[in-house]
Amino acid sequence: MDLKTTTLDPLINLTRKENGNKDLESFAHHVAAGLSQPPKKLSSRYFYDGPGSALFQQIMELPEYYPTRCEYEVLTDNKAAITAHLAKKGFFHLIDLGAGDALKTKILLKELQERQILFDYLPVDISEDAMQQLSSSLEKEMPELNHQAIVGDYDDSLGWLQHNKTGRKVILFLGSNIGNFEHEESLDFLSKVRSHLEPGDSLLLGIDLRKDPDKILSAYNDSAGVTAAFNLNLLHRINRELGGDFDVNGFFHYPIYNPQEGVMRSYLVSKQEQNVFIQATGKSFHFSAWEAIHTESSYKYTLPQIQAMAEASGFIMEIVFQDNQGCFADVIFKAV
Ligand code: AVJ
Repeated sequence: MDLKTTTLDPLINLTRKENGNKDLESFAHHVAAGLSQPPKKLSSRYFYDGPGSALFQQIMELPEYYPTRCEYEVLTDNKAAITAHLAKKGFFHLIDLGAGDALKTKILLKELQERQILFDYLPVDISEDAMQQLSSSLEKEMPELNHQAIVGDYDDSLGWLQHNKTGRKVILFLGSNIGNFEHEESLDFLSKVRSHLEPGDSLLLGIDLRKDPDKILSAYNDSAGVTAAFNLNLLHRINRELGGDFDVNGFFHYPIYNPQEGVMRSYLVSKQEQNVFIQATGKSFHFSAWEAIHTESSYKYTLPQIQAMAEASGFIMEIVFQDNQGCFADVIFKAV
């Protein structure tokens, strides 16, 4: 049976540079604001350029980086129950926010195909490189699958989907990407997702759970130095795209876990007093010796916290799937 009935444009880019370099401008504004006053900070959303996405691929293979393997196990062990649940009500758009290489989503995609369930697949990611690679890998590995990759941030993409896709939506937000949000931002995000759903619709959310602080810290401080390179790539990216003159060797990667707040925070620390000029901002930025830039937060949750988040954003937590060690949870939120 031929399930592929329509052909979709394989890639939609909502961030095209032709649109007056809007993206580069907002990157420059973000950097100027973030480095202008203490405490200095930059958003982890800018990690994922070409080299950054490649480094994140390497992180997912590291022995210390457990979340990917734990979630892989959760999805593999529960693929039948998860897909049966999502497919209950006929055709749907499967929207994968922050899809990346979609290695974990492919477990569910294959299961849905084997069950001959009718859906199309709409991966969304900020990285154009990642979406191009995903699109061609899907053509090769799953030629029957209707898919359309969307390059853009979560907001723009959800807006675009609202205008361009009708019918039921199932949202995936895997990989503990929600961990990058501050608590308040994660509620805003979940409420925004909820506003794009109808009562009864589902969100499958992957969240890293609280565990031994040493295990968490090692995952962000690997011995091969890949996470350090991933963090420092942000300075390389500023040099490449905004004409910065960061001496990247003048900074080091410093991650620290707070077990009470359940948050991993990563910093780039300046080894000495220095000034950095960034052409696109027209400004120079001063660093004291040991001054840090906060570049990422990765929140870890407890199940009661996850349930409270659901209820604070118009969902109920319907089903919880976990790996054997209680390392990672994939939960189904139902819109109420
Ligand atoms: C992709 C946001 C889930 O926070 O664990 C990995 C990114 N940063 N190592 C995470 C990341 C450092 C990752 N997320």
